Amino acid sequence: MAENGGEKVYAAATANPYGRVDEELASVAQREERRKKRMKYVAYGAAFVVFQTAVILVFSLVVMKVRTPKFRVRSATFQDFKAATLPTNSSFTTQMFAELSVKNPNFGRYKYQDSTVESFYQNYKVGEAAIPKGKASFKSTKKFAVPVDLSSTNVPGDVLGSELSQHAWIPLTSRATLNGKVRLMLIFTKKKSTNMSCTMNLNTSSKQLQDLECV
Ligand SMILES: *[C@@H]1O[C@H](CO)[C@@H](O)[C@H](O)[C@H]1NC(C)=O
Ligand SMILES: *[C@@H]1O[C@H](CO)[C@@H](O)[C@H](O)[C@H]1NC(C)=O
Ligand SMILES: *[C@@H]1O[C@H](CO)[C@@H](O)[C@H](O)[C@H]1NC(C)=O
Repeated sequence: MAENGGEKVYAAATANPYGRVDEELASVAQREERRKKRMKYVAYGAAFVVFQTAVILVFSLVVMKVRTPKFRVRSATFQDFKAATLPTNSSFTTQMFAELSVKNPNFGRYKYQDSTVESFYQNYKVGEAAIPKGKASFKSTKKFAVPVDLSSTNVPGDVLGSELSQHAWIPLTSRATLNGKVRLMLIFTKKKSTNMSCTMNLNTSSKQLQDLECV
């Protein structure tokens, strides 16, 4: 029995004289397999790093970037417009209802403090109004209206007179600064101020706003 078994083993060992070569081939194949696996892991790792970097880049460039909100006059209407148009002594008074907007492009709300909007004819101040504090939620535009009493009391009568003898409109500018804070990820806050600077014409015959432009 034992001899038979020994013979069998012997026979098996001699049946394939290339056993060592096979073993070597097998280990080469294994090593190749392992190398391939390693390469796969390296590739996965690299892809992950690239992915993470992209995520962080997008996050810091898009989400965490603090942009300046846009503060502007959207429209305005005028009531009780009164004007004296003597070339040497012109004047006007009117009540402007201005619709303003604060456009917040940030991924977080913008909260601003009380402020003031001022209106000018040339460099003469013709009106001012209070802007109550408020907030514009993330990626949205807050709109509100303010009444502004306009009067040319500070404008020399002949300056306005020469303007109105040339055309039937009064060029006006509105300026304001909002100071506030942008909140990101519910915890980080960053101070951000924004300026309004709008030019417009008050058409004295239609008594309407024209050519409104904000920068
Ligand atoms: C200009 O007109 C106003 C009334 O519209 C008058 O009160 C004022 O005295 C005038 N001024 C001049 C310099 O004529
Ligand atoms: C707003 O205007 C003031 C001067 O009037 C300037 O110092 C400031 O930098 C401006 N802010 C922005 C955000 O443009
Ligand atoms: C002012 O309004 C009148 C009446 O609507 C119009 O005929 C005129 O063209 C306007 N002026 C300007 C400068 O557009």
